Amino acid sequence: MKKALLGLVTIGLISGVSGAMAAPEQDRQEFVNYYTKKYPNVKLDDYVHGALAFDADSKAQYDAIMEFPPFEGDLEKGRKLLDTAFKNGKKYADCFPNGGKNIAGNYPYFDDKAGKVVTLHDAINACRVANGEEAYKVNDMKTMGLLTTALRAQSDGMLMNVKVEGAGATAAYEAGKKAFFSRKGQLNFACATCHVQNAGVRLRSELLSPAVGHAVHWPVFRGGDNLVTLQQRYDGCYKQVRAVPPAQGSADMNNLEYFHSYLSNGLPMKANVFRK
Ligand code: HEC
Repeated sequence: MKKALLGLVTIGLISGVSGAMAAPEQDRQEFVNYYTKKYPNVKLDDYVHGALAFDADSKAQYDAIMEFPPFEGDLEKGRKLLDTAFKNGKKYADCFPNGGKNIAGNYPYFDDKAGKVVTLHDAINACRVANGEEAYKVNDMKTMGLLTTALRAQSDGMLMNVKVEGAGATAAYEAGKKAFFSRKGQLNFACATCHVQNAGVRLRSELLSPAVGHAVHWPVFRGGDNLVTLQQRYDGCYKQVRAVPPAQGSADMNNLEYFHSYLSNGLPMKANVFRK
C-alpha cells in the first residue's frame, strides 16, 4: 500500500502542515478550494456521498440499495431505544433542545464550563446519567450505535453547523487538526495523506474520499448490516496504517471529530447510509 501512494505528488496543503494558526473558516475554505480545483466536475454537494461522488457506477448501486435499505430492522430497534422512557419516566427527547430534532449538526460542540469537546454520544450519556441511568460505552453498537441511528436520523437535512468560538474551543480544534495532519503508524500516513492528497485516487480496490463531507452521514452500515459510527471508522483508519488508535470517546478522538466535522459545515446531514 505504501508503495502505491509514495509515487504520488504531495502538496504542502493547508496551514496544518506549517503549524500556523488559521481561523477554522479559512481552513474549511482552503480544503474546499483544494478539492474543487482538483476535481472541477464533482459538485461540492456530492461530497456527502464520500468516494461515491467519484464513481457513477458505485453511486448507482448505492441508490438502488438505499431504496430498500437492508438495515431497516436495525433502524427500528434504534427508534425503540430512543422512545423508551427511563425508569424515572423521562425520555431522551426531554434532554435535547427541540426534543432532539434537527440538532445533530450542532455536534460536536465545545463546552466551556467542562473545558472539553462534547460529541452527540457524550450528550446521550450525559442525558442518561442525569436521569439515573448508566452511561453506555460509546463503542457499543448494540446500544449507543443503534440509538444514534434514530437520534441522528431526526436531523436529516439539517446543515452541519459546528462552531469554534473562544480560546478553549480553538485549542481543541487545533489539537484535532494536528491529529489529522500528523503522520502515524508503521506506514507513516496521516489522515491527510489519504483523504486530502490522495482523495479521488484509487488505493487498491478503493477510491479515497475527501475529508469535506465525511462527517455528515453517520452511522453507516457497511456491507448492508454492519453498523459503524464515525469514531469507529477513525479507529479502522488508524489500524489500516498500523497505528494504535486513541480510545473511542477520548479527548484525542473527540478533538479529531471536532476539527473533522467543522470541515463539513454547510453540508446536509443524512444518517444511516450504505457503505461497502
Ligand atoms: C491508508 C489510507 C488512509 C488513511 C491514512 C486514513 N484513511 Fe480513512 N479511509 C481509507 C479508506 C480506503 C476508506 C474507505 C474508502 C473511502 O470512503 O475513502 C476510508 C474511509 C474513511 C471514512 C469514511 C468515509 C465514508 O464516506 O464512508 C472516514 C470518515 C475516514 N476514512 C476518516 C479518516 C481519518 C479521520 C483518518 C485519520 C485518523 C483516516 N481516515 C486515515 C483510507 C485511509
